This record gives sequence, C-alpha cells and structure tokens, in this order.
Amino acid sequence: MTKVLMVASEATPFAKTGGLAEVIGSLAPSLRALGEDVAVFLPRYRSTGLQGLTRAFDDLQIWLGSDSYPVSLYQATDRGVPYYFMDSPALFDRDGLYGDSSGDYPDNYLRFAVFSRAALELVRRVFRPQVIHCHDWQAALAPVYLRTLAASDPTFLGMKTVLTIHNLGYQGLFDRAILPKIGLDAALFRPDGLEYFGKVGFLKGGLLYSDALTTVSRKYAEEIQTPELGFGLDGVLRSRAGALTGILNGVDYAQWDPRTDSLLAARYSADNLLAKRTCKADLLDTCSLSRENLERPLIGIVSRFAGQKGFELIEEIASELLAEDLSLVALGTGDPRTERFFTGLAEAQPDRIAVRIGYDNALAHKIEAGADIFLMPSLYEPSGLNQMYSLRYGTVPVVRATGGLDDTVDDETGFKFQEYSGAALLAALRAALAAYKQPFLWTEIMRAGMRKDYSWQASAGEYSALYRRLAG
Ligand code: ADP
Ligand code: GLC
Repeated sequence: MTKVLMVASEATPFAKTGGLAEVIGSLAPSLRALGEDVAVFLPRYRSTGLQGLTRAFDDLQIWLGSDSYPVSLYQATDRGVPYYFMDSPALFDRDGLYGDSSGDYPDNYLRFAVFSRAALELVRRVFRPQVIHCHDWQAALAPVYLRTLAASDPTFLGMKTVLTIHNLGYQGLFDRAILPKIGLDAALFRPDGLEYFGKVGFLKGGLLYSDALTTVSRKYAEEIQTPELGFGLDGVLRSRAGALTGILNGVDYAQWDPRTDSLLAARYSADNLLAKRTCKADLLDTCSLSRENLERPLIGIVSRFAGQKGFELIEEIASELLAEDLSLVALGTGDPRTERFFTGLAEAQPDRIAVRIGYDNALAHKIEAGADIFLMPSLYEPSGLNQMYSLRYGTVPVVRATGGLDDTVDDETGFKFQEYSGAALLAALRAALAAYKQPFLWTEIMRAGMRKDYSWQASAGEYSALYRRLAG
C-alpha cells in the first residue's frame, strides 16, 4: 500500500469541465479498491458548494514571497476517497473554474500557485503521503515548490512526485514579472528552469522537477516527444524520456454502461440490441428531429469545441456531408466559430441535423446511446473518453488515428483515418456509412466494440506499480 495525495483542479462530482474531472473522480476510488491509501486535493469553487463538506483546518497562511494568502481546508468523502478542499473565497469564489466570457481569469497564476503551495501545507498538517501525484499545469508548481522552497524541510524528506500530463496544449504560461509574486527566485527563469520562450511555464516547471511523468495514453507519450505535437516542450520531454510513461485512461462503467444507464429511455446490451433503437427514437425526439431519421445513420458528437478536436475538418467537408443521407446530433460549447459552424449546419438542414450549444450530461448519455456513429476527428487527443464510451454503447467510432484514439479504436471496432485532412475524414466516414448499409457486418462491428474492456482496473494497476517503484 502506498499513501498518495492527488492534486488536481477538477474531479467529479465536485467540479468538471472535461475529461480530467472524470479521470480523477474514478481513478482515485479504483486505486483505493487496489488497496492504495489515496486522498485528493481540490480547490473549492463556487459551484462546489459547502454542503456535505466539513471544516478540517482554519486560517492557514500560504506564503508566496512577501505576501500571504489565508485559506481554510474542508473535507468530504466520495466513494470511499477522502477529498480535501482549499477554500479561498478571494481567489476561487467565482462563476467559472478558469475564466468567464471575457477569457481566462488574469490572476490564474496566483490562484493555482496558492493552490499548489497549499498542497504542501496539507501534506505538512493533515495528510502525509509517500507520493504526491499532480495533474496538469494547475498543480504543476507543487513539485517545483517541493524541490526549491521546501528543499531542506525535513517534513518532505523522501517524498516523491508524479506529474500527469492530460493535455500539453494547456501549459499555464504567464509573464515573467509574476515570478516574485508566486514566491519563486528570478534565477529559475532560464531555459533549463521555468522559462518557456520568454514566458514562465508552470507545466514546464512540473516536467523538470517531478520524479516521474505520465501521460494518458501510450501513443500520446510518444507523440509529445516530437516537434509536431510537443508544443515546444518536446525537447524537455525527450530529455526526460526515461521518467515518462503512457498509462491509458479508464472508463467509469458505473456511469457509462448501456446495461445500467438510468439516463437512457431504455437499457440494452450486446446480446439485446433492440432497445438501442428505442434510445435512437428518444434522442431524435429530444432533439426535435423527425422519426423518419430512424432509418438513416445518425452521427453523434459530444465535445468541448476547441481547436484540438479537429472540427475544422468537418467544416472543410460540410457540403459533402450535407449531401449524404445521414442525420447528425452535435452537443458542445466553447470556441464561438465552431458554435456558429454547427448552428449554421443545423439551419441548413433542420430536418436532419440538430445542434445543442451548452453542457448537458444527460444529453451526452443519450447521444452515446442513440447515435449509430460517433465522430472524433481530433487534431490531437491525449486519451479521449468519448470514443471509449461509444465502444461500450455500440456506437461505432470514426476517429483520427492520434493519441488515445489510435490506442483504443481498431479496424474491428471502428474507422480510423491518419492524415489530418477533410478528404481523409470523408473517406473514413464514407467507409463507415457503407458498412452501416450491411446490417450483419455493422452488428459485428458494434458487438466487437461492446466487448472491449477499458475499465480502470488495468490502468489503476499501472499507477499502483509506479507508486510502489517510487516509494521504494
Ligand atoms: P476533453 O477532456 O479533452 O474534453 P475527453 O474525451 O477526455 O475530452 O472528456 C470529455 C468529457 O466531457 C466526456 O465525459 C464528455 O462526455 C464530456 N463533455 C464534453 N463536452 C460536453 C458537453 N457539451 N456536454 C456534456 N458533456 C460533455
Ligand atoms: C484532456 C484530454 C483528453 C483526456 C482528458 C483526461 O482533457 O484532452 O484527451 O481524455 O484530458 O485525461
């Protein structure tokens, strides 16, 4: 058994904007099931609320340079996992997690520096782990503080750190003038320190100061060491290749399984696919699309609208797409241009295409179940969860062969394309549409996907082994 503190900015059911939240919220209990003593440290956002939380520590002063920030610690338990929350109303009692309609909060550097520094105070006073496991740039300063400010503090002697990269596209880059405000020596501003092309890079700091690095699929672990997908950090990652491993995300089948999913109009399994048609009818009704579409292949999309997700390829082939005999339901929010594109597509073909701009978990489940094909043309995809949900729901994925998409979808379970182009996407989509017309073949593909097991068990075991190695 290893004692581990996870430090992350999101975890279901407390705060979520994307896959990170689901990973933390389901990896932590999976590790506990394997016997690891895991706790999670999160910021308390406005949306987290205080009900169900108990106060664990009052008025802790977090010092960064010459300034101090008062925080309190709260505690809760979810699925057997202790969660600790940093409460700092001045920094976190806001509508968004990272920003609002005018963009990222300008003091994000301070919010997450205080959070990462507070993790070490939690370690000192409440939960003393053997391994601190940090996630993404928001927690990446914790190893930096540990090895700089706290380097000679006996509290942390022998303690090891892991940093997991969920997305290299988000690095926490800030002006160099913030260094003294986050309590770090200006001397760290150098290429083999926190400097990233003239900026201060939180993630870069974490990459250099952590004992072990992981990312969320094997393929992505390779890709980020190349200039194409390394976001300027490929050199750093190559220099730390010996410390870097890829561990694929798992699926929380307690939430995502058509046999038990209470958000669906009907439940189904690989042996009884009939009710999937009921889910398709329900999805069409929910999206005000006519039931005539029951006979057409229905394509589903659920996503953040961000450049990473490759929707520009769909824009490229919009007219060909509209000419195909198919229907489409897309759910997402984010980049306004992508929102406009999808809204326009639905306006051009309102009887076959429906778009919902926003975040809607129940609809996400209905799309996973009701669609025939799930589309993820990502430019890059560290792991991706939706394609794994789709496999379990018998909704055949059409994906670009990148990162976790390449690791989880194969020729028997879905359709992949290599080149990042509209033409390659269209070819893969047409291959899927042709297969759809052969019911026997299609059912085989659906069933092959439904049989795949991407539960956390194997991946949690890999994290356990890593912790054990580090803790000695
Ligand atoms: P990422 O973390 O890059 O957004 P993932 O595939 O790892 O991608 O995880 C995304 C998660 O967020 C999935 O659980 C997906 O269902 C959910 N999600 C994304 N956008 C929406 C939305 N608009 N409404 C509901 N759920 C969404
Ligand atoms: C990131 C990635 C996604 C991954 C998720 C959880 O948001 O974009 O591919 O599944 O993190 O690790």
